[in-house]
Amino acid sequence: MSTHIDIGLTGAQSPALIDLEELLATRLLVQGNSGSGKSHLLRRLLEQSAGLVQQVVIDPEGDFVTLAERFGHVVVDASQSTEAELSSIATRARQHRVSVVLNLEGVDVDAQLKCAAIFLNGLFEVERDFWFPMLVIVDEAQLFAPAASADASDDARRQALAAMTNLMCRGRKRGLAGVIATQRLAKLAKNVAAEASNFLMGRTFLDIDMARAADLLGMEKRQAEMFRDLQRGAFVGLGPAIARRPLTIAIGDVETADRGSAPKLLPLPGAKAEAPAHELIFSADAPPPKKTAAKRKADAAESSEHVMARIEAAPKPAYVAAPAPDLTDEQRIQAMDDIILSMAEDAQVAFRPVTDLHRDFLTRCRIKRLGASLPDLRTFHKMLNVKRAEHSAPEKVDKKLWGKVIDLSDRLPDDMRAPFLLIARAAVAERPAPEDGEIAQFFGSHSPGRARRLLGNMEENGLIVLRTDFQGARIIAIPELEIETKALHPKLRKAGKGAA
Ligand SMILES: Nc1ncnc2c1ncn2[C@@H]1O[C@H](COP(=O)(O)OP(=O)(O)O)[C@@H](O)[C@H]1O
Ligand SMILES: [Mg+2]
Repeated sequence: MSTHIDIGLTGAQSPALIDLEELLATRLLVQGNSGSGKSHLLRRLLEQSAGLVQQVVIDPEGDFVTLAERFGHVVVDASQSTEAELSSIATRARQHRVSVVLNLEGVDVDAQLKCAAIFLNGLFEVERDFWFPMLVIVDEAQLFAPAASADASDDARRQALAAMTNLMCRGRKRGLAGVIATQRLAKLAKNVAAEASNFLMGRTFLDIDMARAADLLGMEKRQAEMFRDLQRGAFVGLGPAIARRPLTIAIGDVETADRGSAPKLLPLPGAKAEAPAHELIFSADAPPPKKTAAKRKADAAESSEHVMARIEAAPKPAYVAAPAPDLTDEQRIQAMDDIILSMAEDAQVAFRPVTDLHRDFLTRCRIKRLGASLPDLRTFHKMLNVKRAEHSAPEKVDKKLWGKVIDLSDRLPDDMRAPFLLIARAAVAERPAPEDGEIAQFFGSHSPGRARRLLGNMEENGLIVLRTDFQGARIIAIPELEIETKALHPKLRKAGKGAA
C-alpha cells in the first residue's frame, strides 16, 4: 500500500505528496498568518489520510467537527465532559484506534487549555501495548503552547505547555506524531516548534516570524522574504516527509465543509422577519432565533457514555505503520555513527555548508527512527570532523591518546579545529604530515596558501611546532600531547619512534 498522501500541486503542477510513514516518524509544523489557509491545509491532510491512520484533532474552534459525518470521527465536546471522562475517552480512543475531534468550542480559555492537556496526557500515558501510530493535529497551537504568558491562568498554561512538550518532544516513541499549526511562530513556545522537522510555511507578514521561519528552515533571512508574497492556500514545504529542498505547494480542495471560515455577509431580515423588530428584542415570548446548522449540531452533542460506546464500535483505520523500534542507547549511537561515517567518506563533504549537512544528518536519523534528541549543529559538526580525521588514517590507534586529541581540539577556535584533528590524527597514527593541499581540502578550501597561513597561526599560538627533517620532509609536532608526525621515510630515521 502506498503511504503517500496527496495534498495539492507543486509549482511544476505535479502532485505534492507527503510520505505518511515518514510523517508518523517525524512531526510537522504549519505556520501562516490568519487566513493563509492553515486550517484548510490541515483538513486536506486529515481527509486524505483518514482511511489510513488514526487521527486526533485538538480543535479550539470546532472547525473540524464536520469530519465526523464523512469520515466517522467521533466528536468529543469538551463542554459536555468532566475531566475524568476526557481522560478515559482519550485512553479508549487509543486502545480502539478511533479517530476523534476534541471540540473545545464554547468553553473558556482556561478550560480549553486544561481539557487539551488532559486529553493529550491521556493519549500519552496509555500502556505500551497501545502505542499505535497516530496523527495528533493541533490547530492554533500557540494557544496551548504559548511563548510567553497568555491570558490563561498560570496553572492551566503550565499543564497545556507540558502536554504539548510531551507530544512534540517525547511522543514519537509512543507513536504520537504531532502536526501543529500556528498563526505566529514568535508566539509559539520554542521547544515545541524546534522538534518539528517538517515545515509548511504559508503567508507571513511580520519580520520576527519570518526570521524564525528562516531559522527553522535553515534559510537565509533574505530567502524567507518569499513568505510575504505567498497566496492564500500556498505553502512552502520542507522536510523528510515532504521535500529535501523548499517546495512551493498549492493546497488542493477539501471534501468536508469548513465551519471556520469568516462570516459571510447575509441580507438583513427586513420585511421577511418573523415579527416586527422591536417585538423580537423587547418581548419575552418572541420566537427564538433560527439556529445555524452548526449550532444545532453542537446542541445535539452526545453524552460521554454515548461517545465511549461509539468509540468501541467505530471502524479502525486500515493502515498502521510499524511502531518505532525500541533501540538501546548503544544501538542508537552505533546507527548515528554509521550515518556520520558515510558522510565522512565523501572527500568533498567539507565544501558543503554545515547547516545543510546537519539537516541531511537529521533527516537520515529520522528515517532510521533514531529518536527525538539528536545532536545539535555544533555537536554534529564536531562528530563529523572527528570521524573525517579518523577516516583519513583509519588504522587502530591508541584510544586514550586520540581521546586527548579530541578534548584538546574542543578548546580551539573554530577554524583551527578541523585542520588540527587531521594533523593530530596523522601523528597518532604514526603517519607523515599531510600536505598543504590535503589540509586545505579538509577544511573546505582549495587554497594551499590558506592552509600554510593557518599552520602559521597555529604555530604562533604554540599549538604546533613545524620543522623539516634532514631530507626536507615536514614534521609537525604537538608539544602539549608530546606527539609528532613521522618523517616521510621512516626507514632512514634511526631514532625510530617519537621525537628525534
Ligand atoms: N487551498 C485553498 N483552496 C481553497 N480555499 C482555501 C484554501 N485555503 C484556504 N481557503 C479558504 O480561505 C479561508 C481561510 O482559510 P483558513 O484555512 O481558515 O485559514 P487559517 O486557518 O490560516 O486562518 C477559508 O474560507 C478557506 O476555505
Ligand atoms: Mg484556522
